[in-house]
Amino acid sequence: MSDASALTKREDDAPDVGELTPPDRTLMGPGPSDVHPRVLKAMSTPLVGHLDPSFVEIMDEVQELLRYTFRTDNKWTIPVSGTGSASMEAAIGNLVEPGDTMLVPTNGYFGGRMKSMAERAGGEVVEVTAPWGEPLDPVDVERAFDEHQPDVFGFVHAETSTGVLQPNVPELTEIAHDHDALVIADTVTSLGGVELRVDEWGIDAAYSGPQKCLSCPPGASPLTLNDRAMDKVLDRDERPRSWYLDLSLLEGYWGDDRAYHHTAPITNVYALREALRLVAEEGIEARWARHREVAGDLKAGLQDLGLEMNAPDEYWLPSLNAVRVPDGIDDGAVIDHLLAEYDLEIASGLGDLEGDIWRIGCMGRSARPKNVEYVLAALEDALAEQGF
Ligand SMILES: Cc1ncc(COP(=O)(O)O)c(C=O)c1O
Repeated sequence: MSDASALTKREDDAPDVGELTPPDRTLMGPGPSDVHPRVLKAMSTPLVGHLDPSFVEIMDEVQELLRYTFRTDNKWTIPVSGTGSASMEAAIGNLVEPGDTMLVPTNGYFGGRMKSMAERAGGEVVEVTAPWGEPLDPVDVERAFDEHQPDVFGFVHAETSTGVLQPNVPELTEIAHDHDALVIADTVTSLGGVELRVDEWGIDAAYSGPQKCLSCPPGASPLTLNDRAMDKVLDRDERPRSWYLDLSLLEGYWGDDRAYHHTAPITNVYALREALRLVAEEGIEARWARHREVAGDLKAGLQDLGLEMNAPDEYWLPSLNAVRVPDGIDDGAVIDHLLAEYDLEIASGLGDLEGDIWRIGCMGRSARPKNVEYVLAALEDALAEQGF
């Protein structure tokens, strides 16, 4: 017989963890960015099943909103369950077959991740080189194509590790298509914040993440493929190495059948829907303009503080402002000061630029004058602490 008091008493080995009270940060790092209250509210609405007729309708709406945001008519436009790396691996793992050659860039951290994923997919990897902090030069891309005849070409539209925006995208895709190659674009830090036109620019596949310029928590990550890319996926000799990310199987869920493949992260899909609704309300072109304008004020303010941007103005990436750490300044101490004194997140450099730059995001809901003023004032104080 059970003792009633035992039912209310915490068992000795049950962890006594307190209620969740995360700090109220202002997120000005490389992502996640501040989330709009409407998105948080959408995440607290009731769960339905992933095959519920009401959810099937939500899936359609999310796909339509994603097409608008990517500037594409691609049928195969879906949120992949997982973070940006999942949609990245879905693109690379499905479009690179064993024996294929993929051309990847060396000008930042995420080109390195592309390489790693292409190798795991059984591909052979060749590189087009450019220094960290510079975009790819179409002349080098053309040369790499002539030399290696790759089947797939990947580039990073907005390199989060260097704060560099890749210009000349239509020129790059034309080179690839002249050589019968498919183009995969990493648009994780550009989608919804920086001009991106998937169809007009001839991008065959683009992947992204929700936690940057869409200001949505991570968990469901945008991916779009045109028919040419999807034909290759459906016509593979060998199945992709990942079952979970096999787009020919995911087609069964996100395509016409709406049949079970895996249990979609329903709440993340709600969140993405609301975040994309905010994009549509603002208008995609107006949103790109806002990012340019607000981040332009941030850049000017940083320069007024005596700081130097990592990227030249021509390649400046509004959504990610990479700033050189001045000589004699401890970059980590500044980051710690901002977090401790201002509840403000910015990030240090990554890879080759570790210790050399700070990365200050200006993405989605974080791309507001209020955030810019706050980060500039806080940074001025943190630098003054170190006698700058
Ligand atoms: C350019 C780029 N590609 C890919 C990724 C990977 O995305 P995630 O960290 O969401 O898996 C990131 C994340 O910061 C990124 O900035």
